[in-house]
Amino acid sequence: MTTSGKKTSSTKVNSNPIGIFDSGLGGLTVTKRIFELLPSENVVYFGDTARYPYGPRSKNIIRRFSFQNVNFLLTQRVKFIVVACNTASALALKELKQNFDQPMIGVVEPGAKAAVKTTRNGKIGVIGTVGTVHSNAYQKSIHRLDRRLKVYSLPCPLFVSLAEEGYIKKKATYIIAWEYLRPLIKKGVDTLVLGCTHYPLLKNVISQTMGKEVKLIDSAEETAKEVKIFLERNELLRESNKPSFRSFFVSDIPDRFVEVGERFLKGKITRLKRINIEGY
Ligand code: DGL
Repeated sequence: MTTSGKKTSSTKVNSNPIGIFDSGLGGLTVTKRIFELLPSENVVYFGDTARYPYGPRSKNIIRRFSFQNVNFLLTQRVKFIVVACNTASALALKELKQNFDQPMIGVVEPGAKAAVKTTRNGKIGVIGTVGTVHSNAYQKSIHRLDRRLKVYSLPCPLFVSLAEEGYIKKKATYIIAWEYLRPLIKKGVDTLVLGCTHYPLLKNVISQTMGKEVKLIDSAEETAKEVKIFLERNELLRESNKPSFRSFFVSDIPDRFVEVGERFLKGKITRLKRINIEGY
């Protein structure tokens, strides 16, 4: 395991895959958007299912895990890395960028950028894991773009389990959403950032609870757009008529991984392999 000093030179090879990592299967919501927008790209996904969840963990642990995840993706000769986990983006992306040459992007900045463009009344809500919210990463990102905006952030940890359980239309989910989101409604936010990989699955409940005049920002969707822009600008898009390959790696294969993962991905998970992440 290396948490510093390990650098790998970036080689501009278009057919090399995009590497994506997340704490588990949540990053498949980001992967889904990347598949939609960049269907001819090769993709390698790593989900750190053995050490999931990242949301309640400390900064140091998340950094250590993230460094290992990047080390693994580099063995797959990825040309670009997407830190699909909001918590890892919030707590480790800066250090990753300082220590690896490989170009990479997190999900926080694209979401923050879209929120700044969207708000009309200058009041933005952000929901995410405890780690993401306590890091203030979204707030800092939003304020880098416009200091005058008001940002109200709240952790909604139960949304993660509800999304995984497929509780996307249940009464219980509406009750929990109301409890969590009421303070943001009171603040009068007109834009709400879904700052967690799992929340796009609960879009309908969240939107109905907030009211349809509140615009929801899906960080997954915004990140995929940024990935496309980056690859285009840097002439890194894969140009081939051959079908693309998609590989999925995990650090553990829990029961129901494929079933739940396919719900997040809205597609088939084939080529699933377990690796020992502690070795990286
Ligand atoms: N992937 C995490 C995130 O987006 C949510 C799940 C976890 O806590 O690991 O923050």
